[in-house]
Amino acid sequence: MPSTASNKAGQTVVVLGTGGTIAGVAARADDHVGYKAGQLGAQALVAAVPALAERADLVVEAETLAQLDSCDMDHGTWLALLERARAVLARPEVAGLVVTHGTDTLEETAYFLHRALAPHKPLVFTAAMRPATALSADGPQNLLDAVTLASTAGARGVLVAFGGKVFAGADLRKVHGYRVEAFDAGDAGVVGVMADGRLQRYRPWPDEPPHVAAAALPPAAAWPLVDILMSHAGARGEVIDAFVAAGARGIVIAGTGNGSVHRALVEAARRAEAAGVVVRRASRCQLGGVVGSRPDSLPSAGMRTAPQARIELVLDLIAATR
Ligand code: SIN
Repeated sequence: MPSTASNKAGQTVVVLGTGGTIAGVAARADDHVGYKAGQLGAQALVAAVPALAERADLVVEAETLAQLDSCDMDHGTWLALLERARAVLARPEVAGLVVTHGTDTLEETAYFLHRALAPHKPLVFTAAMRPATALSADGPQNLLDAVTLASTAGARGVLVAFGGKVFAGADLRKVHGYRVEAFDAGDAGVVGVMADGRLQRYRPWPDEPPHVAAAALPPAAAWPLVDILMSHAGARGEVIDAFVAAGARGIVIAGTGNGSVHRALVEAARRAEAAGVVVRRASRCQLGGVVGSRPDSLPSAGMRTAPQARIELVLDLIAATR
């Protein structure tokens, strides 16, 4: 993919595009819904923020890895992103990496990178809720904040710069489907805020060793199948049986409240466990997770969201085969 660089001296930040609404284009400037995501490459996103070119101390490179609507995100793209992120962050002149992404599955990709890479330099995701063609697009300011964060001395780990806030990638939850204030960090709170082009930090940087060494991850086609289903009034155990029949090696149930699971699903989950399938229960609530454990219930995914619990279970199952 093409890459651009100026002839300025100084530290480098690489902007890697993967698609999303931040790269979305609509026919009309007042259309926030009927646009196509992932139409613009990373160079166009960087060019739309003149303040980046004006930073005399910073070389900003742009590179397009994918142009996806992130609802179509897949494990192969995650592995390509992981490999590219490792290579970029290993360059001594690179201060940090910015990844532009769709908001819909941002919490999943950020969590995966957090658990598979846990970089010592900043890897900053950013995104937008309004397409690049909108009257008041949120992408350009988010991108500027993300580059500023990626070049902030001492910054490290997987972070998300969005709406003036800085989140740890591991804490991110999408809590609104339309509003610009779309993300929350749950009980963990934000790492900091971007104020007038500077970071005000309230919490330590994310600091956790990777779950699985990136080199140990098999090709996407060999990843164990792990699926998510939701507990709800009138839930049917046959759905779990169908997951198992379709090859699931792991199942995450997004339970009600503090991870409660309909008894029909519990019965079917016990059958699945007897067949060697690993089952975990998360919460379908947007905030919080599963607190504590009950001896009669399925294993808990703790404070992780159901999509995060799914990633953790995929990595656990991979690790168990190594
Ligand atoms: C996407 O996730 O790619 C589309 C939605 C968005 O970025 O807000």
